[in-house]
Amino acid sequence: MTSAPAPRFPRGFRFGAATAAYQIEGATGEDGRGVSIWDTFCRTPGATAEGSTGDTACDHYHRYREDVALLRELGADTYRFSIAWPRIVPAGTGAVNPAGLDFYDRLVDELLDAGIEPAPTLYHWDLPQALEDRGGWRVRDTAEAFAEYALVVAERLADRAGRWMTLNEPFCTAFVGHAVGRHAPGTREGNGALAVVHHLLVGHGLAVDALRAAGAREVGIALNPDRLLPATGSAADAEAVARAEILHNRCWFDPVFLGRYPEGEKEVWGDISDFSFRRDGDLALASRPLDFCGVNYYRPITVADAPWREADPARRTADDIRVQETWGDDTARRTTMGWPVVPASFRDLLVDLTRRYPGLPPLVITENGSAEADAPEADGTVHDTDRVEYLRDHLDALAQAVAEGVDVRAYYVWSLLDNFEWAFGYDRRFGIVRVDYDTLRRTPKDSYRWYRDFIAAERAAHAR
Ligand code: FCB
Repeated sequence: MTSAPAPRFPRGFRFGAATAAYQIEGATGEDGRGVSIWDTFCRTPGATAEGSTGDTACDHYHRYREDVALLRELGADTYRFSIAWPRIVPAGTGAVNPAGLDFYDRLVDELLDAGIEPAPTLYHWDLPQALEDRGGWRVRDTAEAFAEYALVVAERLADRAGRWMTLNEPFCTAFVGHAVGRHAPGTREGNGALAVVHHLLVGHGLAVDALRAAGAREVGIALNPDRLLPATGSAADAEAVARAEILHNRCWFDPVFLGRYPEGEKEVWGDISDFSFRRDGDLALASRPLDFCGVNYYRPITVADAPWREADPARRTADDIRVQETWGDDTARRTTMGWPVVPASFRDLLVDLTRRYPGLPPLVITENGSAEADAPEADGTVHDTDRVEYLRDHLDALAQAVAEGVDVRAYYVWSLLDNFEWAFGYDRRFGIVRVDYDTLRRTPKDSYRWYRDFIAAERAAHAR
């Protein structure tokens, strides 16, 4: 008898794949969908590579059955997708679009028929443009509109969808969207980003209440904590890391899991004095108990001290943060995003998070994966050895964190399909399935087969 390998993950651990609505659905003008800030942003000259848009993307809206079949063949236990708010409430508030709800209803049933747990995210960055026009996340009304939308969706799907996430990477919405302007809405508005941070947190809390009221079984959020390393051993770089910790990690984790903003945060924001958008009771909302904390992880970041870009303290703003981020680590291989591949950082991050937040709920890895320079063979097959290595090494690092006592319940690879990678357009491929953007044909890559075999081996090891 040959001895089969022991399982790497605990019994009941779930494996899956993740996507997001705007990145895969296409059909942006169909069945009553409203305009989102990404539709608008993509039409701004120079905003996305080659002016790409999500108008067609992977055409998942029409091909979801084929995509669910790919998940089933993969042996996925669970599928993380996002719901497009503008399909459900096209004008952001008010009238609900039944055709939008029907689409996700069909998707959820298709997944359940395939034995796959549906895991929806309510907000993966596609805000209805009508809400942006009324102030977007800078104003509290948007947080309230988010809760109304959450309730509508959950009332329809909570009987069948298992694991729910309110927001995806609010760090990116706030700072990449409103401070550096590389994502929709594409503004550089300093202090505005701080109100955005706050209203996202309030919206998250209100949505948690709405999901619970509608009977959602498991509720969480998908954050992107960063592993931040000092560029040198200098005291100045250590302080820069502390500031970056507030910006990247603590201004999300502290409110959500400790019910307070981090100490010293105001120093990071410069000399901003008007925090009147923060109201009593908001942090109690932001820190509603969660069933899990989603973690998106890709790579570590190196941080060095930098001069204030703005010399006059009275004019410093949130987009003038005094840190300089580099990708560091010259020895590491880089993905086509330019991100260094450092799997040990993944383990370190998770171990560190659980040390810093002892009350943290179980973790779910809601995204992990790599963009590679996939070169298809003549028959369309893709031997993406680099991605296979990336996934293998990151799953190893995850297994190590679990062995060291970190409570992790599931892992989602980013992404099931090559898709619209935001400002990078279609130029960066993260899929374990190749999408030919001319024919929209799907072709599983080697990494898909590797992951399928990995999942099957885990299952077999537990069955013995
Ligand atoms: C994350 C996003 C996801 C995808 C990956 C590569 O920041 O949540 O949509 O773009 O990065």
